[in-house]
Amino acid sequence: MKKEKSQLNIEVLKNRIEKMNNEIVSWRRHFHQHGELSFQEFATSDFIEKQLESFGGLDISRPTKTGVIAKIIGEKPGRTIALRADIDALPMTELNDLPYASEIEGVMHSCGHDGHTAILLGIAKLFSEQKDQMSGTLVCIFQHAEELPPGGAVEMVKAGVMEGIDEIYGLHLSSSFPTGTFGIRSGFLTAATDRFDIEVIGQGGHSAMPETCVDPIVIGAQIISNLQTIVSRRIKGIEPAVLSVCQVEAGHAYNIIPNTMNITGSVRTFSQETRNNMAGMIKEISQGNASSYGADCKVSYELGYSSVVNDEELTENVEAVVEAWFGKESILAIDPVMPGEDFSAFTEATDCPGCFVEIGTANEVLGTTRPHHNPNYLMDEEGLYYGTSLFAGIVFDRLFTD
Ligand code: NI
Repeated sequence: MKKEKSQLNIEVLKNRIEKMNNEIVSWRRHFHQHGELSFQEFATSDFIEKQLESFGGLDISRPTKTGVIAKIIGEKPGRTIALRADIDALPMTELNDLPYASEIEGVMHSCGHDGHTAILLGIAKLFSEQKDQMSGTLVCIFQHAEELPPGGAVEMVKAGVMEGIDEIYGLHLSSSFPTGTFGIRSGFLTAATDRFDIEVIGQGGHSAMPETCVDPIVIGAQIISNLQTIVSRRIKGIEPAVLSVCQVEAGHAYNIIPNTMNITGSVRTFSQETRNNMAGMIKEISQGNASSYGADCKVSYELGYSSVVNDEELTENVEAVVEAWFGKESILAIDPVMPGEDFSAFTEATDCPGCFVEIGTANEVLGTTRPHHNPNYLMDEEGLYYGTSLFAGIVFDRLFTD
């Protein structure tokens, strides 16, 4: 089949994005000044909706209280692709002295979601004017509550947002990579983060007469040590996994054996198989140890976000897009990143292939190399241009090729 690009081309698109740049930056600064916490993004979602309405020609809906969807339906048939931006801020007070610093005490966009939202608004505006040339449908997902498990993505999926979507893409601005670079990785990109809680139930009593007690502290200490054999003895050496006990609570006096001991920790895994086996192994070790000393033991295992897994074919496509726009040297082959991401909910439950890309915003001169989730986090806003270009490149590649 002959592939033919319509009159839009990369140069034309780059030009339009450059012209929109000031507007995208001003949206980002607006969101930055008025950040809202997860599940409370009421003013943010109203602002997004108002902007989208002003572009015209969009099919706008509110599938959740603070999430917004904008569909651009092309005049020619084709696939349906979704682009996702998360819109929430974090509970911290900004320490930067910026003209557009957060005006809200205790709330700050310190993860860059203000930038993601501005980028996706730019994309909606850009392609709202191209419906006549577009083959297929573009769905812009403005997702609430990425920062707070169980997260907004799973709510949006439950509300049916993913119905009919063939591919989904997401991005994160990142101070770990230089501005102008794109961190791309096929397969596992982020770790799954789960939590476990163990309660060892013994029998308390006098410290001088342990034979009349079932000491939960001695049992708990053995459980803690033995939990470390899960990663070292029961998981393949090539399979990354971390199990950390981070909280222990028992007793209140030097001469009283307590009734119970509580042990809490976190598990990080990449593959679904390893993740699935974790709860069972933690239970086996905890309950096995406890019962061998005549104690009871309750174990709960709470699933956090799943790993983001980038589809191989989509990732190859995205690499080709970035190469065509900015050259091969702009692509960084990155290792998996440890922060969790609920983008995984969009692909996991629906089996929809996805690709998530890290967009560099680190610039030594501007001082934008500080970590995210930091009260002094700064963004190199030039990254907005590259993020918008990535999304525009994907849309052009997937919906404008006959
Ligand atoms: Ni984030």
